Parts: sequence; C-alpha cells; structure tokens
Amino acid sequence: MSHSLTSNPARITVPKIIQKKLAGEKITSLTAYDYSFARIVDEAGVDIVLVGDSLGMVEHGHDSTLPVTMEEMLMHVKAVRRGVQSALLVADMPYGSYQINDEESLRNALRFVKEGGAEAVKLEGGSKRAETVKCLVRAEIPVMGHIGLTPQSLLSFGGYKVQGRTEEAGERIFEDALALENAGAFSIVLEGIPRELAERITRTVSIPTIGIGAGPDCDGQVLVIHDLLGLNRDHIPKFVRQYAALGDQAFQAICNYVQDVHNAKFPLDQESYHSEARHENRIHSIRNA
Ligand code: KIV
Repeated sequence: MSHSLTSNPARITVPKIIQKKLAGEKITSLTAYDYSFARIVDEAGVDIVLVGDSLGMVEHGHDSTLPVTMEEMLMHVKAVRRGVQSALLVADMPYGSYQINDEESLRNALRFVKEGGAEAVKLEGGSKRAETVKCLVRAEIPVMGHIGLTPQSLLSFGGYKVQGRTEEAGERIFEDALALENAGAFSIVLEGIPRELAERITRTVSIPTIGIGAGPDCDGQVLVIHDLLGLNRDHIPKFVRQYAALGDQAFQAICNYVQDVHNAKFPLDQESYHSEARHENRIHSIRNA
C-alpha cells in the first residue's frame, strides 16, 4: 500500500481542496490520532485528516492543548500517515513550535513534512502569523490557518469563549482571514465564531473555510473524532453532533467482559486451543461415529 501522490490518482491534494470551493462542493475533515482510526476515517472518504493538537486533551488527558510537544505530535502524525491512503494529511503545529521565530517555525514545519509525511501544516492566529505563513509557503509547505476561538490562546482569552460576537471583534477576525489569504494559506479553520461572521468570511475569501462551531455556511466542516463518535463522555459542546455513542458501548462491552471472566464464562472451550493428541482423538471419534 502506498500513499504516494503519483501512484494514487484518487488522492486528495491541496489544489483539489481549493477546487472544491470553486465547484461549490462541501469539504469534510476529521481529526485522527492513530493508525486504526486514520484507516477508518480515510476509507469513509473524508477529504482532510487533521492530526490536531486536541490530542493533548483526548489522547493524553491534559486539560488544554498547551503542553503538547513536537515529539508527541510527530509520533501521532507518523502513525496516522501509515493509515491514510487518500485524504490530505494535515499536521497541527503545537504551541511553542511556531511562536519563537520564522527559522524555528520552518524547521518544525519541515519535520512534519519530511519525517511525518504530512502534506500541510496548520497553525493558529491571523494577522500576527502572516509573516510565518509566508515563510512556510515560500518553502513549499501548504498552510492551513486557524482563527476565532483558537485553543492555544487559552491564557490570553481567559477560557474557551466564542469569539467575534461584537462588531469590532468580528472585524478583527475578518481582517485575520484576509491576512491569511494574502499570506498564501490554502484554507482557514474558523472556530467558535458567529455563523454570520463565518458566512461573510466564506463569501469574501477565495480559499476554503473549514468550520467548527462556525455554522453551516463554511465551505467545509471539521470535528474532533472523539466528539463525533461519542467517545468523549464529559461535556459536549453545542456545535457537536454525536453520530454514535461509542464511549457508552465500549463501557458496556468492558463491563460484560469483566463479568464473564469473573463468572468463568470467558473463554469457552471453542475459544481455546487444544493439544494435538486431543485434536486427533476428536477426528478419530468423528470417523467412527
Ligand atoms: O486540534 C484540533 O483538533 C483542531 C481542530 C478541532 C480544528 O484544531
């Protein structure tokens, strides 16, 4: 199995994502953090698989994305790479990997492409990230922007709050979108902003917008896979639709397993291996029956 761009004509590429906006086709995106889920997401036909730094919370149990490191991200990107054959693979740049200077940002983004096999990177922030975006784009790395409720801004926002609700705040986010487009980003994630603002940005910019908690008018949608599958059994944000309750199902399945082992109901004889002697005895008794 190869994920090579040249050997798989069905592969989703950056130009194909841009083309989808022009053709009025909705874009689908989901996060994946490991090989098994990456395969399922890819085979289901999702356009963009994002190895999001949300993994810090849903996979590593942190209470924010801030502690996530480059090494952790790279390990997950490599695993997801092995599971993705067709979708565009985007790696999220963790907090601290692109805030120091452009040289460091470029070095980290290059690691995602060269070591991780990512086809694009995502970073948070608008106007203040324009120069960094330009620098990565000059090095032929496609960049997905991310504005609005940017989780890495947790400390300055003072919490996870919907952004851009006032006219002035909305205008700043609108300017951020224009700055990212001008800097050469190929798409922009719009997170946690009013639907009306997302619609205005989507109508104005030529690159696709991918919404999460930004209403239905974006060019595409992205969700954290744990939210979509109901694996997260804690707080469920308003913008999430749970398409399954895998967390409850997993819990019930594990309770059943524990009970069966306690009651000596697992494993049964047919779930056990047998010695050769017993196998031959059984064949003998079948023949003589
Ligand atoms: O980290 C992440 O999963 C993300 C998406 C939710 C957009 O940034």
